[in-house]
Amino acid sequence: MEALDIEQLLELARQAARHAYAPYSKFAVGAAVRTASGRTVTGCNVENASYGLTVCAERAAVFAAVAAGGAERLAAVAICSPQARPCPPCGACRQVLAEFGGDDMAVVLEQADGRPRVLTLGALLPEAFRHA
Ligand code: THU
Repeated sequence: MEALDIEQLLELARQAARHAYAPYSKFAVGAAVRTASGRTVTGCNVENASYGLTVCAERAAVFAAVAAGGAERLAAVAICSPQARPCPPCGACRQVLAEFGGDDMAVVLEQADGRPRVLTLGALLPEAFRHA
């Protein structure tokens, strides 16, 4: 990915975090996914009074991307939380990302100084479980 694309994806994740519904944890998260064809879709965490029903920002973004345009391969995801820099995806979200992204999928995190750090999904979830 180009440096500009990475910055733009991170900025979209930052903006999505402003929509987070997190009255219980007060921990806002935003995510932006880029599909292989270049579509970009965002998501934020949405909590629930029954805590376990909470949906993370990354999963919200992935599911919204599928709902809006079908199950495309994912090229990249950017994740941002004002409460934690960086904010790496939780284990459940890593598995959901692996459903649509390969080991080379870019995972963009915001560092403490606001600059992006680019990892791969393969580094975050080695030997992921996938159906053949
Ligand atoms: N959260 C995310 O949205 N993404 C993650 O990868 C980790 C956690 C949310 C869930 C919950 O609303 C809040 O952050 C605190 O765990």
